[in-house]
Amino acid sequence: MVGGGQLARMTHQAAIALGQNLRVLANAPDDAAAQVTPNVVIGSHTDLEDLRRVAAGADALTFDHEHVPTELLEKLVAEGINVAPPPQALMHAQDKLHMRRRLEALGAAVPRYAEIQSIVELDAFAQRIAGPVVVKAVRGGYDGRGVRMARDPLHAREIAATFLADGVPVMAEEQVNLRRELSALVARSPFGQGAVWPVVETVQRDGICVLVIAPAPELPDETASAAQQLAMRVAAELGVVGVLAVELFETTDGALLVNELAMRPHNSGHWTMDGARTSQFEQHLRAVLDYPLGGTDAIVPVTVMANVLGAPQPPAMTLDERLHHLFARMPDARVHLYGKAERPGRKLGHINFLGDDVGKLRERAELAAHWMSHAQWRAGDDAERSDEKERRKMSDGWDPHD
Ligand SMILES: Nc1ncnc2c1ncn2[C@@H]1O[C@H](COP(=O)(O)OP(=O)(O)O)[C@@H](O)[C@H]1O
Ligand SMILES: [Mg+2]
Repeated sequence: MVGGGQLARMTHQAAIALGQNLRVLANAPDDAAAQVTPNVVIGSHTDLEDLRRVAAGADALTFDHEHVPTELLEKLVAEGINVAPPPQALMHAQDKLHMRRRLEALGAAVPRYAEIQSIVELDAFAQRIAGPVVVKAVRGGYDGRGVRMARDPLHAREIAATFLADGVPVMAEEQVNLRRELSALVARSPFGQGAVWPVVETVQRDGICVLVIAPAPELPDETASAAQQLAMRVAAELGVVGVLAVELFETTDGALLVNELAMRPHNSGHWTMDGARTSQFEQHLRAVLDYPLGGTDAIVPVTVMANVLGAPQPPAMTLDERLHHLFARMPDARVHLYGKAERPGRKLGHINFLGDDVGKLRERAELAAHWMSHAQWRAGDDAERSDEKERRKMSDGWDPHD
């Protein structure tokens, strides 16, 4: 697996039970996955030699992020490496513009969008949609890095100008009036078998997923099946091998628009580790290795997952001590920590709660995650102001393992 982040760490966990041995290409020995598997290659996902080293002798090469240049992957394919998902599929998860165009061609509804190469083009787009605009970096973004909500046309210009000046390819789209966000998670094997989990609701704050509710509450059956069928069709048409997440917007008038695709285990599937018959990590391995896929039904009526994000100021109490207190108060919390150093906004772990009352589970999940982040038993009052977050986003380097 290319990438040594938490997704690789949890895939390794699943590999153990399958009697498989996951080799990981990590940037550093203290990456989340490198800490737990002895089979580590330290190197870069943009270096062909490093990719060759990690792929040598492996049954399949797969990914914990989508940032490996496809030219390098094409070379590996030519050398006989089984790259899963293959580069022709993966390119749709790497490039938001490419993805949008392909989804449109498949007949999927997407937000109105345009490629932006100049401020003149941005102005023309803003005029055409006559509403608020989102400006996005076409490549390299994740967790809302590379996504900016413009407050007004002038702000949109400013953002686009900053990106363009840095040589970052840009697209603009309409700001969709969201009722909520959903995710349809599926897996597809080379044999052609598909498996779909229940459609979930995802809650984002500042572009980062903070909460997932499985299944999405009060989603009409027809809408849920339409989302699942769409995701399976996208997986088949694009030739995806492994897990595919289709991020969806549910608009205020009940329509579904596709936001983006991820071809790997995804944050919206972390609930499956405890709440579904087969976890997304095991399923990704089964698909990549062409085993028959596992059952995807939920084993309880509701699972709520909350992400533990690094607080603006890491608390004095250690994470381990916080965990002691959490378990004392909430013995049913299913905790998954990634072994990462605490940094503001960084994904440090997640917690699943299983049961049947969405409201109560959500409250407990938020409380637990807030405690683990802040060492305070009080949910929902993150002290950091959003403009400070915005500034941090602009100034931080992007680390695909955050
Ligand atoms: N067109 C849009 N309208 C409204 N909200 C949006 C739009 N695009 C993105 N967002 C919000 O920003 C989040 C991150 O955007 P996304 O394109 O998924 O980027 P990333 O690659 O960082 O996940 C989305 O989950 C959603 O909350
Ligand atoms: Mg996204």
